[in-house]
Amino acid sequence: MTELDIHLDESDLTAALRHDVAAGLAADPKWLPPKWFYDARGSELFEEITRLPEYYPTRAERAILAERAGEIARITDAKTLVELGSGSSEKTRLLLDALLAHGTLGAFVPLDVSVAALREAVDRLTGDYPGLAVHGIVGDLTRHLGTIPRGGGRVVAFLGGTIGNLLPAERAAFLGALRAVLDEGEWLLLGADLVKDPAVLVPAYDDAAGVTAEFNRNVLRVVNRELGADFDVAAFAHVALWNPDEEWIEMRLRAERAMSVTVGELNLAVSFESGEELRTEVSAKFRPAGLAGELAAAGFEPRHWWTDPQSRFGVALARAGG
Ligand code: AVJ
Repeated sequence: MTELDIHLDESDLTAALRHDVAAGLAADPKWLPPKWFYDARGSELFEEITRLPEYYPTRAERAILAERAGEIARITDAKTLVELGSGSSEKTRLLLDALLAHGTLGAFVPLDVSVAALREAVDRLTGDYPGLAVHGIVGDLTRHLGTIPRGGGRVVAFLGGTIGNLLPAERAAFLGALRAVLDEGEWLLLGADLVKDPAVLVPAYDDAAGVTAEFNRNVLRVVNRELGADFDVAAFAHVALWNPDEEWIEMRLRAERAMSVTVGELNLAVSFESGEELRTEVSAKFRPAGLAGELAAAGFEPRHWWTDPQSRFGVALARAGG
C-alpha cells in the first residue's frame, strides 16, 4: 500500500520562499536558507556531491550504518522507521534490510519537502519491499513533526548531517519538538559530521570539479525562476569557509561586481556592493560530548555512539527519556 500525505503544496512552498527571500535579502549581512537549494537540479547536484572524492560524509555515514544496522535493529526492535529529510532514501535501505531481517518492522514513513523526490522514493521502495507499508509525508521538518503517525515502536532517523543546517537555537527547538512527538522509549538515530582539520573540511565544500559551486549558485536560479528575480548567476563566486568560533562551514556567494537585482514578485530591488557576500548555508560540525549534551537537554538519553574508522562522522542512537 502506497500512501502520500501532502501537508505542503506548491503554494505553501512559494509563500515560504517569498518570506525567506524578503527577510534574507533585507538583512545585513544578506542570507538565504539552504533548504531552497533543492529543486530538481539542486537535488541532482547534491547527489553528485555525495560521489565527489572530497565529500566524505555520505561514504563515512554509509560505512557506519552498514556495520551497525543489525545492532540498531536489536537495540530498538523498531516497528516503524521514520526518516526525516529522506530525499532519495538510498542509505535507508541498509536500515530497512536489517530491521526487516530482525522481524519487527512493519512500516516506513519518509518525510520530505519535495513531493517529486518523495513520490519516486515511495514508489521504488514499495516495489522493492512488498511486505512493508510505506507512508510518505510531504512536509517541513520543523513544522510537520506532529503529522507523523503514532503507535509505538518508532525509530526516527535524521541522517546525512542535515542537523548541521540548523543554527544552535533552531537545533534546540527542533530536538525539543521531536522529543515532544515521541513516546518514552522510542528512538532517534542521528547522523552528524564531526569537527576536524579544516584542510579536510573546506575541500568537502569547495571541490576541484566545481560541483558544490554550481549547487551553491543554484539557489539564485531557484529565486530567479520562482520569484521572477534577475540575479546574474555567473557574477557570483562560490565561497566556502571554516568558522572556527562557531565550528561550522559557511557557504557564501560573493558578488564579483556591484549590482542591482530586482525580485519581480516581491516588488523588491536589492543592491550588492562589489565583493559583498550572501550567506547561503551553515553546516555545523559537532564534538561527541557537545552533541550528547544537546540531546540530553532536549530529553533524549544518548545510549550509543558510533563513528567511521577515521572519526570523520558520527551516528548517535538516543532514547526518548522519561
Ligand atoms: C545535506 C545539509 C548534509 O551540509 O554537508 C553539501 C549539504 N552543502 N555540500 C552538508 C551540502 C554543500 C549537506 N547536507
